[in-house]
Amino acid sequence: MTDRTSYERSLERSRAAASRPDRPDTFTMAGHEWDLLGDVFAPPYSATTETAMEVLGLTGEGPPLLPAGGSFLEVGSGTGIIAVMAALRGAGRVVATDINTYAVENTRRNAVRHRVEDRLTAVHSDLFAALDRGDRFDCVYWHSNFVLAPDEYRYRTDHERAYVDPGYRAHQRYLVEAPLRVTDGGAALLQFSDRGDLDRLTDLATTHGRVLKVLDRRAFLEGAETLEHILLEIRPSSV
Ligand SMILES: C[S@@+](CC[C@H](N)C(=O)[O-])C[C@H]1O[C@@H](n2cnc3c(N)ncnc32)[C@H](O)[C@@H]1O
Repeated sequence: MTDRTSYERSLERSRAAASRPDRPDTFTMAGHEWDLLGDVFAPPYSATTETAMEVLGLTGEGPPLLPAGGSFLEVGSGTGIIAVMAALRGAGRVVATDINTYAVENTRRNAVRHRVEDRLTAVHSDLFAALDRGDRFDCVYWHSNFVLAPDEYRYRTDHERAYVDPGYRAHQRYLVEAPLRVTDGGAALLQFSDRGDLDRLTDLATTHGRVLKVLDRRAFLEGAETLEHILLEIRPSSV
């Protein structure tokens, strides 16, 4: 494990972001203002969310990856900023899930703030567990907690769920389930990073009959550190 991929450093980042005395109740990003609740991943403290929106074409620089009028499932919506931007940029139906109840409430608030609650539903769910069995989407997306923690690590706060995944158990389920949730011609996407263990993820994908295709890689700065965001498409290996 390198310093970059260290789960302990990621947990330190989580603690710092959750407890900063100057943590705001609202923030501005992508030209809009957003509510930020406690214990929810804070987009202002890392360039990852803004980069994720750029990659998806939601910030106005480049065409959106989502088909106009199509359906979008965002797993792990946090404040809801990506899900709301997808609705504002023309998605016809958006479902946003999160395992953190504060994130679900945060997503609902931002949907109301931006008047997209008629086409955005926020659901408390462990990945896809609370969704109807047959529900399918044109795009399924997770900007994940891509840092690998030891299998036996137990979360101390909801906030930590945004940062690390013990044993990549949630990633393993996502690799299996996300491609089953897309419409014909749809895409199952994972926003990953070089803070994650791409070799381990690729092994998991192979073991479970999935292949990963890199759709986009881009570097961004976080403080003095240059990081890389990696957008992956997950497909069944037989296709
Ligand atoms: C890196 S944060 C991204 C938040 C938001 N999408 C953004 O870009 O600002 C990852 C999110 O995934 C959520 N998450 C972690 N494990 C999950 C699971 N098993 N099911 C649903 N959401 C999960 C976390 O609570 C967190 O909100």
